[in-house]
Amino acid sequence: MAMEQLWVNEAWEKVHEKVTRTSSRIGARFPHASVDGAYVLEAPHWWTAGFWPGLLWLLYRDSESKDERYKDIAEACEQQLDEVLFGYDRLDHDIGFIWSLTSVARYKLLGEEQSRRRALLAASVLSGRFNVKGNYIRAWNPWGEGDRNEGWAIIDCMMNLPLLYWASETTGDPRFKHLAMEHADTVLAHFIRTDGSVNHIVVFDPQTGDFEGVNGGQGFAPNSAWSRGASWAIYGMALSYRYTGEIRYLEAAKRVAHFFVANLPEDSVPHWDFRLPSGVERYRDTSAGACAACGLLEIARAVPDEESGLYQAAGERILRTMYEHYGAWDNSPEEGLILHGTSHYPERRNIDVPLIYGDYFFVEGLARLRGNAETFW
Ligand code: GLY
Repeated sequence: MAMEQLWVNEAWEKVHEKVTRTSSRIGARFPHASVDGAYVLEAPHWWTAGFWPGLLWLLYRDSESKDERYKDIAEACEQQLDEVLFGYDRLDHDIGFIWSLTSVARYKLLGEEQSRRRALLAASVLSGRFNVKGNYIRAWNPWGEGDRNEGWAIIDCMMNLPLLYWASETTGDPRFKHLAMEHADTVLAHFIRTDGSVNHIVVFDPQTGDFEGVNGGQGFAPNSAWSRGASWAIYGMALSYRYTGEIRYLEAAKRVAHFFVANLPEDSVPHWDFRLPSGVERYRDTSAGACAACGLLEIARAVPDEESGLYQAAGERILRTMYEHYGAWDNSPEEGLILHGTSHYPERRNIDVPLIYGDYFFVEGLARLRGNAETFW
């Protein structure tokens, strides 16, 4: 390993050290944001349920001495999700985030048939959210009495598409992939702007499929540039290219990546929105940085050698800065691995705290830098 890569192994060891400790307290439960140094646990139906077991699977997969405890916890998490899978009302498009990192992960690693069946059931429910008039996957269910969001699609769903691509690959039935590509094409048409920034929420008429408008969602405003949304687009489009070989998805991933990298502050860790008016707090969002880094490394594998260095270097730089300046290492009582994530600024929820998806993508990025580019997505 080249000298400059030593930090990667050092970081991997520090992740292990911390997760050995935190896994004893967290066990087979579902952390989301770390507040005052301890991860707050969510109900299993929350969209973040897959990240903790997914992180444990990564450590289990890529460590020489297999820690069976990680496997046991990840499997126990997956088992608890059956109640969610059969509790139809709570299922929304985040099915992909949840079952890719649990059941698909376990199936890919251990060939467990029950996990394959769970993931296929999840893929079928996700397919059922497809609106054939607007060619989009419906994002959420109503949040409250009288809410109408049948026509809403969101950029985050790009990371849910791999569950459908995987379902087609594993069954040989192209239907799942067809739907995923229709949705990805809708994202090309309505979410990704000419300058490479992205919309968070796009609203369609659910009866006719007509485009109706754009909502700001978790970004500052409809025309701002929510950085985690951009990271979902970069990595999601790059994975769509990996599964389909369609160059338009790789080109879209590159376009958003160029916007993302060009708008990074000096230390390469993004603010939560790239287009903030003065006077609005410019908190960082390390989760956006970590996810984008995985996307950049995925693009680096996909493009010809002469282009690859740009994306590889940008992904590495983000991860290395996070390790060196944003990590909570050396026996810090903090349970999170990476500090300074921002979950939902407009609703003032979980600002400037470690987030489990930031931790997950940081570890996935390290795994890539250690030479394993296989993903659970
Ligand atoms: N998928 C929800 C979020 O990015 O916060």
